[in-house]
Amino acid sequence: MKKVLVLSALQLFFMAAGLQAQTIVPNPQSQSEKENKTDDVKVSDLQFISTNNPGLASDLKVFSEFMSKMGFPAIIQKESATHAIHLIKDDAYRDEEYRMLCKANQVVEIRGGKDGVFYGLMSMLQVIEQGQRQVALAVPQLHDFPAYSWRGMHLDVSRHFFPKEFVMKYIDLLAMHKMNTFHWHLTDDQGWRIEIKKYPKLTEIGSKRKESIVEKNFDPYIGDGMPVEGFYTQDDIREVVKYAQSRHVNIVPEIEMPGHAQAALSAYPEYSCTKNTFEPLTKWGVSNDVYCTDEATIHFLEDILDEVMALFPSKYIHIGGDEVPKDRWKVCPVCQQTMKTHHLKDENELQSYFVKQIDAYVTSKGRNIIGWDEILEGGLAQNAAVMSWRGEEGGIAAAKQKHNVVMTPGDYCYFDHCQGNKNNEPLSIGGYTPIQKVYSYQPTPAVLNADEKKYILGAQANVWTEYIATTDHVEYMAVPRLCALAEVLWSGDSKPGWTDFKNRLRIHFDYLDKFNVHYANSIFDVTAVRKIVDNKVVVTLETEYENGLIQYQMLGGDQPQLQLYKKDHPLVFKHSGKLRAEYYEGTKDSGHMLEEEILVHKALGKTITSTIEPSTYYNEGGLPKLADSKAGHAPRLSSEWLGWSGKNPEITIDLGDVSKLNNLDIYTLKEEMNWIYLPQQIDVSLSTDGINYKPLKSLTAKEIEEGYGVDNKLSIPLDNTKARYLKLALTCAPKIEKGKPGEGEEAWVFLSELAVN
Ligand code: ACM
Ligand code: ZN
Repeated sequence: MKKVLVLSALQLFFMAAGLQAQTIVPNPQSQSEKENKTDDVKVSDLQFISTNNPGLASDLKVFSEFMSKMGFPAIIQKESATHAIHLIKDDAYRDEEYRMLCKANQVVEIRGGKDGVFYGLMSMLQVIEQGQRQVALAVPQLHDFPAYSWRGMHLDVSRHFFPKEFVMKYIDLLAMHKMNTFHWHLTDDQGWRIEIKKYPKLTEIGSKRKESIVEKNFDPYIGDGMPVEGFYTQDDIREVVKYAQSRHVNIVPEIEMPGHAQAALSAYPEYSCTKNTFEPLTKWGVSNDVYCTDEATIHFLEDILDEVMALFPSKYIHIGGDEVPKDRWKVCPVCQQTMKTHHLKDENELQSYFVKQIDAYVTSKGRNIIGWDEILEGGLAQNAAVMSWRGEEGGIAAAKQKHNVVMTPGDYCYFDHCQGNKNNEPLSIGGYTPIQKVYSYQPTPAVLNADEKKYILGAQANVWTEYIATTDHVEYMAVPRLCALAEVLWSGDSKPGWTDFKNRLRIHFDYLDKFNVHYANSIFDVTAVRKIVDNKVVVTLETEYENGLIQYQMLGGDQPQLQLYKKDHPLVFKHSGKLRAEYYEGTKDSGHMLEEEILVHKALGKTITSTIEPSTYYNEGGLPKLADSKAGHAPRLSSEWLGWSGKNPEITIDLGDVSKLNNLDIYTLKEEMNWIYLPQQIDVSLSTDGINYKPLKSLTAKEIEEGYGVDNKLSIPLDNTKARYLKLALTCAPKIEKGKPGEGEEAWVFLSELAVN
C-alpha cells in the first residue's frame, strides 16, 4: 500500500512543519532558563571545541568520531574565545554529573566529573543534529546526572554469533543513551565465544555447532543443516574493552556455570558428571549436562576466570548460575560424595557450595561475582550481587540480605519478547513487551525500606538471541526499547511520562537514522479499536503519533479502495470483511500494515453464559470475547483465546430476538504441541424461550476433525431454524495419550468466537 501519489501535497506540508526544539533522550534532570537572554548560543554558530585538560582528549576524539558517523563536518579542535564549546573536568562534580552552560561571547561550557563531560558531549550531539535541521535552535542550559549507577544492556552472542564490529556499534548505542554497562553473554550450551589460551579446545570445538533448529520445530526436530561458528580472540576482546572504555561503558563478561555449559563440555567432557561425549546444542533450551562439582572442575573454571579477569577490568564478573538441572548431580557419585563430606542437605545447597567457591576465588582477586537470581537458592555467597530475572522477587530478597541487585525482570526487560502485533513482528521466543511497558518500569521496588533500596544498583535489558540471527534483527529488538530503558534509569523519578517521551522519541528517530540504526517501527503501527453498535462493528483507528496519515481499506466491505482515514469518522462494518491500515509520515517509512478480519454476525455483543467458566489462565476479557467480532490466530496469541480443560462447558447465547438462523462458525484451535485439542463432540440445540431446547446437530470427533479447516473454523449449518437461544455442549478431549506432549495431562479446548448468522 505504498501508492500514495494523491497525498503528496500533504506530505510536503508535514515535512515543512518543523520540529520541536532541543529534545534529548534520555531526558536531562533539569533544564534551566538562561540568566541573561544575550547569552543565547545558536547551535549552528558553534565552530570550535577545546579543552585544556589532556584527560579529556579521548572524549573529544570519540565526539569527533560520532560527528563524522553522522556525516557532519567536524567541529574544529582549537582554543577559541568565541563560538566554541569548552570542556572542563571539575572534581567538585560527581563522576557522571555535568552541566551545559551558555556563557557570554557565544561560548558553551560543558563542565563535569570523570564521566560527566562525556555525557555532556552525548547530549550535545543530539542538540547539534537538531540544529542542522532547525536553523534557529539555541543550546539548552542543563544540569544533569543519572538516577541509577547500573544502566545496562546485555547481548547473547552464544546462540548466534555477532562480529566484534557489531558489538562496537552496540556499545555506541549504549553510550549515545548514557548507558554505562554492557553485559556480554559469552558462553552457553550452544556456543563458547571467548578464546582461553590454556584451554584452546573451548573455541576449537566449543565455538562450532553443526546447525540450528528451524524456527520452533522441536518435536519433531528439524535442523537447518547450516553450521554456526565464531569466537573473539583475546586481541579482539582487548580491542572491544578499550573501545568501550573510551565510551565510558564497562563490560561485564559472563561465563556461565554450573549450567548452560554444554559447549564447554563438548571440548572438555572430563568436567561433566558422566564424561560422555557432547556437541554444542543445536536447539534452544537448557541442557541437563552441567559441570560436575568436583575440585578439578572448580580449578578449570578458576583458570578460565583468571584469563577473563586479565582481559576485563570490570569489578563485576558474571558467573551465570541460572537454570541448573540437578539430574546429573543426583546420580553422580562424586557430587553425592561432595554433599556428604560438606553436610549439604540437597542439590540446591550443592549449587550454593559450588558458587561460594567461585565467589571466594573471584573475591580473592579483588573482584565480585554477579549471578542470576537462582544463586539465592541454597544460600547466597558472601560477596555476590544478584541479577533478578524471574520477576523482582530475587532482587527483593537479595536487597533484604544487603546484597547488591540489578533488576532485569522478564516482563519489562526481556527485549527478546515481541514489541507489537505478533502477526507483524519477526518470530520471537514469546512474551509481549511493548515500549510503553518498558517506559513504565520502576526499578526500585516499593516494598523495600530506604536502607534496602540502596542495594538496587539499577537495571538492564537482555537480548537473548535464539531467534535473532542477524545484526539488523538485534538492532530491531533492542531499539527503541533501549531508549525507553535508558530514560527509566537516567531520569529516575524525574522521568517526564510517556507522552513527553514518545514525542521526543519521534525526533530522536531522525538522530538514530544518521547512525543507520535498524530500529523497530512498531510504535508507528495502527491499532484498530472495535465497538459493537447495533450488530455492526464500529472501528476507530488509533496511532501513537498524529502528524502523519492513515490509509485504510475495507476489503469485502463498503470501502474496498484505498482511503484516507479521517479522525472522528470511524469505520462501520455492516458485513464481515478485512481491514487493512497503515500509518505513514511524509516520505518516511511508516509502521507495519495492520490486517484484521472483522466478523459481523448476529451474536455480536449478545449475552453469553457458560456452565463452566474458562480457566483463569485463559480468560482475558471473559465470555463476551466469544462475540466480539475477533477470531483468534494460530500460532496462538493467548489473549485472543478462552480455554477450558478437564470439564465440559455448556455455552448458551441469547440473541435477544427470535430469528431464522442459518449458520454457526465455531473458531477453535488445534495445537497438540501445546496440549490444545479439538472438542471430541459438539451438541447444538436451539430454543425460542430459553427453557425448551430442541437438539439440532450432534457432531462426532471425526466430523469435527473433517470439518475443521483454514482460519481455525468449524462451520455448522443451522438449517434456517427459528430461535432466540443457541446452546453448545462441548466435550473436551480425554487425558492426553502416551507419547504426545503433555501425556497424561488434561487436554485443553480453546475458543475465540462463536459467529451466528
Ligand atoms: C535467563 O533468562 N535464563 C537468565
Ligand atoms: Zn558430578
